[in-house]
Amino acid sequence: MEIQPGRRILITGGTSGLGLEIVKLFHKKGFYVICTGRQPQDFTGFTGNFRFFRTDFSDLAETAKIFKNICSETEPDFVINNAGILSPPGFTLTGDGFECTFQVNFLAHLLVNEIIIRNNTDNHPLKIGAVTSPVYKMENTFPDWQCDVRSYKPLKAYSDSKLFLALMCRYLEEKYTKKNPACFSIDPGVFSSSIYRTQGRFFRFLYGIAAPFMRNPAKVAESVFEMMVNQGFSDGRIFSIRKKPEYMPVYDQRLIDAFWISMNEMTEQYLKA
Ligand SMILES: NC(=O)c1ccc[n+]([C@@H]2O[C@H](COP(=O)([O-])OP(=O)(O)OC[C@H]3O[C@@H](n4cnc5c(N)ncnc54)[C@H](OP(=O)(O)O)[C@@H]3O)[C@@H](O)[C@H]2O)c1
Repeated sequence: MEIQPGRRILITGGTSGLGLEIVKLFHKKGFYVICTGRQPQDFTGFTGNFRFFRTDFSDLAETAKIFKNICSETEPDFVINNAGILSPPGFTLTGDGFECTFQVNFLAHLLVNEIIIRNNTDNHPLKIGAVTSPVYKMENTFPDWQCDVRSYKPLKAYSDSKLFLALMCRYLEEKYTKKNPACFSIDPGVFSSSIYRTQGRFFRFLYGIAAPFMRNPAKVAESVFEMMVNQGFSDGRIFSIRKKPEYMPVYDQRLIDAFWISMNEMTEQYLKA
């Protein structure tokens, strides 16, 4: 099958909630859609211009292998970093030794984007959108990413992961000046989905009550679609669901630089393998 250039999109976490709505919308608009996630959905009807790759972001080596494979087959024009979890009530480490929210929401996406950008042909336009959260604004000082069982607070772990994801967009644009990817993040506000599934019973009960009053993820997907296909959404900036630019708190640049040096060291081993 011939895949039309300029219409190939890769969506992480495309198996439920917002990601699934984004997958459906881009597919309906005639895009070739590559979708990743752990639990394959019933994608009946998504024939021809659709691929699903089972990927668990809590395993970085496996994630790197799968994305290298994807990039050897297809050069995406658009990428949406959407996969994410709410931090579990208890401190949880992945097999790679990282707090699970930090790895799934942020570090795995950094690795995936590094693979995609490095494989991207020079001058081939590539646009990367990352789904952050309104809580990225919670930190006034640049957070220490190395939490342990004693310092672990679920909301903080989640908000930190979303802050790092938002900062990543600016970092990647500055790092890859020759490849020149257009990166930006999207603050989607709050919408109904099954993101609560990692939470305890009480949270799930409260969520069940509030969900009917929350925004429909299909509406959020429409906004994401417009930001992806229209110009003006780039430069590592953050945009609200109403497409208004938001302002990142200013952090100590030395701490940010030290953070990216550590992240580079961590991802490099998986990129080289
Ligand atoms: N819901 C909200 O109000 C809200 C607000 C702000 C931001 N967000 C963000 O929006 C994004 C989408 O969330 P959602 O609300 O639509 O939640 P959701 O329905 O739970 O969808 C999350 C997606 O992430 C994937 N995922 C989770 N863990 C993964 C892992 N270990 N490896 C690979 N994929 C994994 C899931 O796929 P599998 O289950 O198949 O693995 C699923 O496709 C997330 O980044 C979330 O943080 C949500």
